[in-house]
Amino acid sequence: MAAPPAPARAAVLCGTGSFLPARRVSNDMLSATLDTSDEWIRTRTGIGARHFTDPGTTTSDLAAAAGARALADADPSGVDAVDAVVVATTTPDRPCPGTAPVVAAKLGLSGAAAFDVSAVCTGFVYGLATATGLIAAGAARRVLLVGAETYSSILDPTDRTTSVIFGDAAGAVVLRAGDPDEPGAVGPFDLGSDGDGVDLITVRGGGAEQRLSGRPAEPGERYFAMAGKQVFWQAVRHMAKSSRAVLDSAGWRVDEVDHLVGHQANIRILNRLADDIGVPRERSITNIAEVGNTSAASIPLALDQARAAGRLHTGDRLLLTAFGGGLTWGSTVLTWPNLAGDANRSTNPMTPPRSEESTR
Ligand code: ACO
Repeated sequence: MAAPPAPARAAVLCGTGSFLPARRVSNDMLSATLDTSDEWIRTRTGIGARHFTDPGTTTSDLAAAAGARALADADPSGVDAVDAVVVATTTPDRPCPGTAPVVAAKLGLSGAAAFDVSAVCTGFVYGLATATGLIAAGAARRVLLVGAETYSSILDPTDRTTSVIFGDAAGAVVLRAGDPDEPGAVGPFDLGSDGDGVDLITVRGGGAEQRLSGRPAEPGERYFAMAGKQVFWQAVRHMAKSSRAVLDSAGWRVDEVDHLVGHQANIRILNRLADDIGVPRERSITNIAEVGNTSAASIPLALDQARAAGRLHTGDRLLLTAFGGGLTWGSTVLTWPNLAGDANRSTNPMTPPRSEESTR
């Protein structure tokens, strides 16, 4: 889909936050119960570990923890109201209602508009476009956007093809109304989908299709399934094409990209993507080794961690691109802003500074 012209009122990034559950699960720990190995997982995916929530902690808990950090980062005084809470997730607390109203309530933001975006691993980029639209339409002046996932709730622990890849996490940003030309303004966008690929990344059971089929869900249908090999090349192809399209819309040359922030699906996909579009691999931000594929949380978590590591500097040009179930894909760009919260940051979100329990 071709990107529309930049709106007069842009969504400008003004805060970031993230949250990783404390329980770190190494490849060797998975190998104790699955027919796999640290060597296979590392060489095929680049993943060394992932984090899983403990029973009783849900997607809204992770989202609220990351959201609280982003809100405090954007506005330490806590006086600037957020008008809308958007949660991108594949793993909502319940099929109905959305998770965002629950997150808003946990953050003391009841009354704000709140809804979910469902675009699997592309959810955060779709969420950025949604927040941009809310701000451009005048429906909101400040938006909290969270990508949050508990894939541990949909992984089949006996399926080595999926269990080794995904992890739980949340990443968040605050966006405010601003000028399209100022640093932090997000956009333009390139978004797309191909529903013919619905079966390639899916949870088959639990939805209207299965419930109205007249037969009960088979046990395996409640779990996440992915045709990994087919998806691999689609992911590279669509993220590369979408990246080129959005760079074109933005009028940026590829050598002007300081950081490629791709969806953390697989290190081989990220390397191939960088090579295909011509961004040197060292400009690709990757955190997959420690967190795995965290789906809608992947890009905001990578951004927040890169920022905490001092890798993002004011004026740096970022290209964000994602691919996921649907199939869906999307890309956008922004110039890194001078964030007020940088002065107050002392913790590295790789090390969760507070327990999961403290978020509830
Ligand atoms: N440990 C050991 N062996 C394994 C494992 C494992 N964990 N998983 C699969 N294998 C075996 C397979 O059974 C197969 O064995 P066979 O040759 O005897 O049949 C062999 O390893 C090769 O399997 P492939 O599936 O061909 O392995 P591949 O190199 O393609 O890697 C992977 C699989 C990691 C899933 C890769 O295809 C991939 O990353 N795909 C893309 C994922 C992605 O981008 N998803 C989109 C975003 S996610 C989302 O939207 C939710």
